[in-house]
Amino acid sequence: LSLPFPEAAVAESIESRIRVWSGPPYSAGGRGTTRYAFTEPYCRTVRDFGRALESLGLTLHADPVGNLVGRPVGASPPRVAVGSHLDSVRNGGPWDGVLGVVSGVELARLAHRRRSPPPGVVSWIEEEGSGFGQMLLGSRAAAGQLSTDDLASSVRSLDDGRAFTRHWSESFVSRELPRVESVLDGAEAWIEIHIEQGRVLESASATLGVVRTIAGYVHADLELNGRADHAGATPMELRSDPTPVAGSVILAVERCARSMSVPTVATVGELVLDPGAPNVIPGRVVLSLDVRSRDDSSVDAVLDAARVAADHAALARGVTSHLRIRQRRRATRLDIGLADDLQRTAAAMGVEPLMMDCGAAHDTMVVAAAVPAALLLIPCRDGVSHSPDETADPLDAARAVSVVDSWLRRLTQS
Ligand code: GLV
Ligand code: MN
Ligand code: MN
Repeated sequence: LSLPFPEAAVAESIESRIRVWSGPPYSAGGRGTTRYAFTEPYCRTVRDFGRALESLGLTLHADPVGNLVGRPVGASPPRVAVGSHLDSVRNGGPWDGVLGVVSGVELARLAHRRRSPPPGVVSWIEEEGSGFGQMLLGSRAAAGQLSTDDLASSVRSLDDGRAFTRHWSESFVSRELPRVESVLDGAEAWIEIHIEQGRVLESASATLGVVRTIAGYVHADLELNGRADHAGATPMELRSDPTPVAGSVILAVERCARSMSVPTVATVGELVLDPGAPNVIPGRVVLSLDVRSRDDSSVDAVLDAARVAADHAALARGVTSHLRIRQRRRATRLDIGLADDLQRTAAAMGVEPLMMDCGAAHDTMVVAAAVPAALLLIPCRDGVSHSPDETADPLDAARAVSVVDSWLRRLTQS
């Protein structure tokens, strides 16, 4: 049974769900979307997601840490899993992650229409790390890269300090949803559809990207301890001021990242000056580091540059420095066969995708170690993401869904 692909209907359905889920009560409020794992807005979104799946004959299941999958009850698990995540950064955009999940719902709807087996529709928990401080938390926990002990002790909510496991066990997700061992049970392939979050597709006038490599990253915190003193009464030569040390580090990582031959990016996104007043020399400064590249040795080089600059500038000022690695992931090459297959499928439909690398992190990095995995990107306007102004063209989204649907149809026939 071959029905025409309902591009406009798919686009409309994706856009309307993304719009509804972008604000209260599906977001904690403020500008943009704020939705951390296990919060009220998150649970409400998950319930809605479950209802959307039910109408297609799928039931939402949870794995032992709260990753979700919609799949038929009692039937053998789907051969292909698709999806992304429903949590957001603070004051984030409506498309990040949600696109992949609602695309999964649309793929299940298209399969339902022609009475063929649906893909498993997955939502990984706590991808952004905004709720519990660890990116890709759900997929890493499922892969055994975060232990039960970690989840019960060191992984804590940044808002209330309670452990991940406590939030999980109190949530309706743990108490009400049927359990699966793994959201990837039975899957022979994984596909995530996501917005690009950069400007590469737009500047190439491409509407679809097929990713070859996802950049590796390191997340670290640098703590600098000096001495808090009066800003007026303490002469320059008698200070132990950690702030200029932070300044040296910030400039050193920028310089080092710019000097790498393989594109490498370094960001200081958090900076805490303690106690933080114009007339007080801070006693303590903490800054975050986010360094990424498809070349792991370039990430290491920038991290070394940060360490050297910190030690050097700290020594000269009687400040101590301590670098703590929060998390590190190597660059991930995705399955070449699957990427080529999706590229050919798209080309046969008149869509010429850009084969590209991806700078943002995705759960696909973790999944790729378990099953052949693919990441499809669509442009987002002006590359804006992790921002309330993030937006994309629903027709590009529908086109990406159409490519995956066509690939799934071929798989079912084979
Ligand atoms: C996740 O969104 C990231 O920071 O790449
Ligand atoms: Mn994100
Ligand atoms: Mn995302």
